[in-house]
Amino acid sequence: MKPAIFLDRDGTLIDDRGYLSRIEEAVFYEDTVPALQRLHGQFELFIVTNQSGIGLKKITAEDAARVNAHVVETLSRAGIVIRETYVCPHTREDGCACHKPKTLFLQHAARDYGIDLSRSFVIGDHPADVYLADAAGATGIYVLSGHGAHHLTDLKNRCPIAKGIGEAIEHLAVLHGAAVLRRGGLVAFATETVYGLGANAEDPAAISRIFSVKGRPPNHPLIVHLANRAALDRWAKQIPPHAEKLAEKFWPGALTMILEKSALVPLEVTGGQNTVGLRVPAHDSARALIAALGAGAGAAAPSANKFGRVSPTEARHVLADLGSEVDFVLDGGPCAVGIESTIVDLASADAPLILRPGGVSQEAIEEVLGCAVPIRGQSSVRAPGLLPFHYAPNAEVLLAEPAELARVVDEQRARGRKVAIVRAESAGDLAHSLYRELREADASGADAVVVEIPTDEGIGRAVLDRLQKAAAKPPRAL
Ligand code: TXA
Ligand code: MG
Repeated sequence: MKPAIFLDRDGTLIDDRGYLSRIEEAVFYEDTVPALQRLHGQFELFIVTNQSGIGLKKITAEDAARVNAHVVETLSRAGIVIRETYVCPHTREDGCACHKPKTLFLQHAARDYGIDLSRSFVIGDHPADVYLADAAGATGIYVLSGHGAHHLTDLKNRCPIAKGIGEAIEHLAVLHGAAVLRRGGLVAFATETVYGLGANAEDPAAISRIFSVKGRPPNHPLIVHLANRAALDRWAKQIPPHAEKLAEKFWPGALTMILEKSALVPLEVTGGQNTVGLRVPAHDSARALIAALGAGAGAAAPSANKFGRVSPTEARHVLADLGSEVDFVLDGGPCAVGIESTIVDLASADAPLILRPGGVSQEAIEEVLGCAVPIRGQSSVRAPGLLPFHYAPNAEVLLAEPAELARVVDEQRARGRKVAIVRAESAGDLAHSLYRELREADASGADAVVVEIPTDEGIGRAVLDRLQKAAAKPPRAL
């Protein structure tokens, strides 16, 4: 049984200009198409529209059908499939069974398309759209576009209120994602670093599924993502002064702290260790998802790729890698940082140690702590990020100093190899685009990717770390 979204037409998808009879009058809101594209076909979509203008003889049924067909066709050209458009031609006085908030059309959709209404949503700019949702056991989201702002005082039922369709879809995706997590499902979500493959961190069975979907050895621990600093006390047994300082300075952000775990943390999350990696991501929808899961909740999430492959920095990368193995992908756009978080070990009695360089630089961490924080050298069973074949595309990765780039590229081409070139204005820009470009190189069938290496400082050090791992000869079959 699939979840669906029932979309009101006028005032929700398109401007409400009264009784529409001509397709030229159908003007889409700016965010309608991008918002619906963000769903990547993970919901069945329907339009449920009252066209009482037909009953009032202001327009004909053919007029309404023409405008509807135009709306559906326009969306379809943008890759958005509307399964069916339900039109009520009646006026309220007719007392028909199809006029909102009556649930007739939703029942038909449930029957004809196998829709689970309890996991479905109705979005509209009239209180009747929300009452419709409630009457059907679905979730209503009220938009202030169209007549929404005007009718707001009439709205009797409690529901999320959004500025328009864009915000409504954001709410909806977070609510749906949290419901999936609560039921033990897997949700891939955007963070500012890379996309994570998340499960409720308190649900050992869901955690096990992460490992099987990723193809990751079970002794490799996961990072638990929190909605805010306050949740940290539930997950860490104690919070040393260094951790207080780093959380204060870098959270939300690309820093993961390894701390002694609390009794709450399942051993499935930590690979049997008594320490846990914790991070508050700096992406609104990630934090909203975790907050919606519950107060103080945690989402255990490794990067949302198959073990040993390039981390995803866009929702479409996750869908390409994991497809239907993940229950929901919460599209939060391209990741701003583009490489994984910095991992600092604060659990051992010794001085803090960087286990993996990442989005927060060593220099910045040392400045906050006022002491040296070395980066640990190669090789440990604990951290897959430290295995030499991690982060590998199919193409061979060659690193070149800026002055050598042209020569290396020529040499490769002279050998008849197809070459992709990756370079950027700054180390930060390279971090942002590196994983996407490695994927694109693979997609283009390149034999080799020549990357102009960044300077070994700040985030450049983290990029260099990933590049060296990608350049190490990967075993082809993982
Ligand atoms: O930016 C990131 O950190 C992304 C996003 C999704 O937050 N996550 C990520 O997760 O890169 P993953 O699982 O691909 O890498 C997590 C790293 C692994 O190298 C793991 O071994 C290490 O964190 N780690 C987690 N818990 C640990 C622990 N208790 N002790 C030592 N290392 C730990
Ligand atoms: Mg409307």
